[in-house]
Amino acid sequence: STADIGVVGLAVMGSNLARNFARHGFTVAVYNRTYAKTTDLIDAHGDEGDFVPSEELKDFVASLKRPRKAMIMVQAGPATDAVIDQLAALMEEGDMIIDGGNAHFENTRRREAALREQGLHFVGTGVSGGEEGALLGPAIMPGGSEESYESLGPILEAISAKAPDGTPCCTRLGPDGAGHFVKMVHNGIEYSDMQLIGEAYDLLRRGVGIEPADLARIFSEWNSGDLDSYLIEVTAEVLGHTDAATGKPLVDVIVDQAGQKGTGRWTVQNALDLGVPVTGIAEATFARALSSGVKQREGAVDLLTGPTEKAAIPDGFVEDVRQALYASKIVAYAQGFDQIAAASAEYDWGIDLGSCSALWRAGCIIRARFLDRITEAWRSDPDLPTLLAAPEFTKIVTDAQDAWRRVVATAALAGIPTPGFSSALAYYDGLRSRRLPAALIQGQRDFFGAHTYRRVDREGTFHTDWSGDRAEHEV
Ligand code: 6PG
Repeated sequence: STADIGVVGLAVMGSNLARNFARHGFTVAVYNRTYAKTTDLIDAHGDEGDFVPSEELKDFVASLKRPRKAMIMVQAGPATDAVIDQLAALMEEGDMIIDGGNAHFENTRRREAALREQGLHFVGTGVSGGEEGALLGPAIMPGGSEESYESLGPILEAISAKAPDGTPCCTRLGPDGAGHFVKMVHNGIEYSDMQLIGEAYDLLRRGVGIEPADLARIFSEWNSGDLDSYLIEVTAEVLGHTDAATGKPLVDVIVDQAGQKGTGRWTVQNALDLGVPVTGIAEATFARALSSGVKQREGAVDLLTGPTEKAAIPDGFVEDVRQALYASKIVAYAQGFDQIAAASAEYDWGIDLGSCSALWRAGCIIRARFLDRITEAWRSDPDLPTLLAAPEFTKIVTDAQDAWRRVVATAALAGIPTPGFSSALAYYDGLRSRRLPAALIQGQRDFFGAHTYRRVDREGTFHTDWSGDRAEHEV
């Protein structure tokens, strides 16, 4: 046995990861259900390092050094379970199976528990950065046992992206599902970020009338400041691209129905279970659903009218939008971190938020310059009640709030939907309100369901006898 690590599943992500391992000097065992994929990889890239191809899974397992490390890059769901079962049957105590796909963290918890019974390690790990990241350095978010990380960690860290200060963007985040959970929230934040950028684009395009080529320049400019991030960079690229067939901006010939594979939805579903308001991620996920709700859109487009008066666009609106985008983005990250903290407490994962933000600084889709500042914020005070309470972020959002309000107000007057900007601002205003109408909701609940309430001036739980003499009783 010579292989340091093996990869099962050689679609693009799997083969790029295998090549990344090989390019870093590791001997990599490779296996794919259809052997032709394996030989294709070796034919095209065999000279990049040491590959050990196997046609049979048992030979693949036999080619791995102990403790064996087999990384599976197959479709989430039943395909993953099938491969795990086959591998587990061939492995021995102390060996590990690493799932690098976008698995649901509950499945990861279940699989980890089952394999632990068999004396095997199961490491659910998030891998972000798309196809290019897999090859050149992804951000890697492993969960699993401490013991597994001792021998696996150095290999994953070697192939991971490196943050500007040189640290590997790979850290063990906690036991069992912790890694896949963090990757799920990463994707939720990705949805939110993309939605906010989309709204900024829409406001400047439809509201102000700026053409895509000029917008590409604006986004590039933004990318050299606080908003510096991979998603803004990608946005400039897409907006600047002309469709070869029609000569139109490509963005104008793409069907405006956003797809999704499920990680955003999972994030929102879990946030509802944990009771964490991730409004930005929820709005972004629903906005994708609205865009794809063809029946409703077609049925309404000619019936529902927009504003009767043309909205005035305030001077300096482009800069207002930039600030609203920055502030809303900070809210989205703050909410995502709250969800990670809540899950960490719920599942006893001990996730360090500073490590999460640090490892998102390079390689992953949401990589952004301001993650340096977020990392510092969590490191200087891990008990911050919200990211918005970190002095630097308090200042950014409060400085941005006037611009942010102008943007949301203008959007409403212009009839341009900005669920991301609006919900982020509502969240900000919700947090800073000394009194919320929740007091009234408690009164209503007590009225129709005797659900009781607490008082601001006394300890205890109370109920008013609404249908009788309306006297208050302590319960
Ligand atoms: C990444 C991406 C990656 C993928 C998602 C998003 O971190 O590299 O998040 O995991 O692009 O699957 O997919 P959808 O937008 O299709 O849900």
